[in-house]
Amino acid sequence: MTEEQDSEMAPAPIIWAVGGGKGGVGKSVVSTLLAFWLARMGKRTVLIDVDLGGANLHTLLGIKNPPRTLNDFITRNFDSLEEICVDTEAKNLRLISGSSEVLSLANPHFSQKVKLINHFSRLDADYVVIDLGAGTSFNVLDFFLVAHEKIMVLVPEPTSIQNAYIFVRNAVYRRLSRLSTKDPSLQTLVKIAMDPKNELKVRTIKELLQFIEESGGKEVAAPLEKEVRAIQPAIITNMVNDDKEKNAGRIVQIVAEKYLMIQSTDLGSVSHDRQIFSMVSDMAPLINLDQSSQAFANMHEIVTKLLKN
Ligand SMILES: Nc1ncnc2c1ncn2[C@@H]1O[C@H](COP(=O)(O)OP(=O)(O)OP(=O)(O)O)[C@@H](O)[C@H]1O
Ligand SMILES: [Mg+2]
Repeated sequence: MTEEQDSEMAPAPIIWAVGGGKGGVGKSVVSTLLAFWLARMGKRTVLIDVDLGGANLHTLLGIKNPPRTLNDFITRNFDSLEEICVDTEAKNLRLISGSSEVLSLANPHFSQKVKLINHFSRLDADYVVIDLGAGTSFNVLDFFLVAHEKIMVLVPEPTSIQNAYIFVRNAVYRRLSRLSTKDPSLQTLVKIAMDPKNELKVRTIKELLQFIEESGGKEVAAPLEKEVRAIQPAIITNMVNDDKEKNAGRIVQIVAEKYLMIQSTDLGSVSHDRQIFSMVSDMAPLINLDQSSQAFANMHEIVTKLLKN
């Protein structure tokens, strides 16, 4: 068998994306620990920093100056992402670094994102974990929506809970908008409905789909509803100090179901861990985290749940 045929037969990696809206809630820490646990479980894993503005994932792995970054991939026309993968100190774990330089990729067109995503799928790995930047820009949402596991990280604070809800809401509207590119009047309707104070008084996704059904018929509304229901994110509550705080993810879960028709999984919580904080401040590789720590055990439970999903 030729090498080409061989690579054609290799199954594409499973992609996990980690987002969540608010900055500083621990998306990069969680991505790193998810990837590290996958690698420890024998899964060949590539961790990718898709924070296109403020890449810093390499520092969490103790790599000061990554020799190659996503920016090199875009500007220097490498044939494959394999060429910019960097080995880490952990077995089975490689990194594709983002770039803190001004990126030619800072505002990619949708087709460039699709191309990049296709390259993710061609990586020689079992799992690809992508760490997204903060916010709900199209960049973040498009990478989030394409992943097999759409993981949201939040912390038990009202602003983070609210941002997580807005993140899912924007993801739903982004999907609906992409699905209606060939139907301008539908796309306009989706855009109007996105404004929470719109004149049509459409306040929820359910109401929007009802409106679409009334104006365009069931054959238009039903496939859209199916796509919305397929989003199914998974929620992690990070930096938890007590049992009460563990419920933050549940709140997002309930509200997203009620207003957005989104069924999500609550993956549980990760303890606040001072060692994580000091390791990140000292730029020490997180893979050296004390393995008896609660946060490390929490992440193991979460990865185990995700693997069963
Ligand atoms: N479980 C935890 N326990 C203690 N500190 C944590 C934990 N998770 C994250 N942190 C701390 O929170 C800070 C932000 O973490 P991180 O960089 O992962 O957030 P982020 O969501 O990726 O931020 P950004 O939106 O800027 O990309 C870091 O200082 C990190 O040490
Ligand atoms: Mg980050």
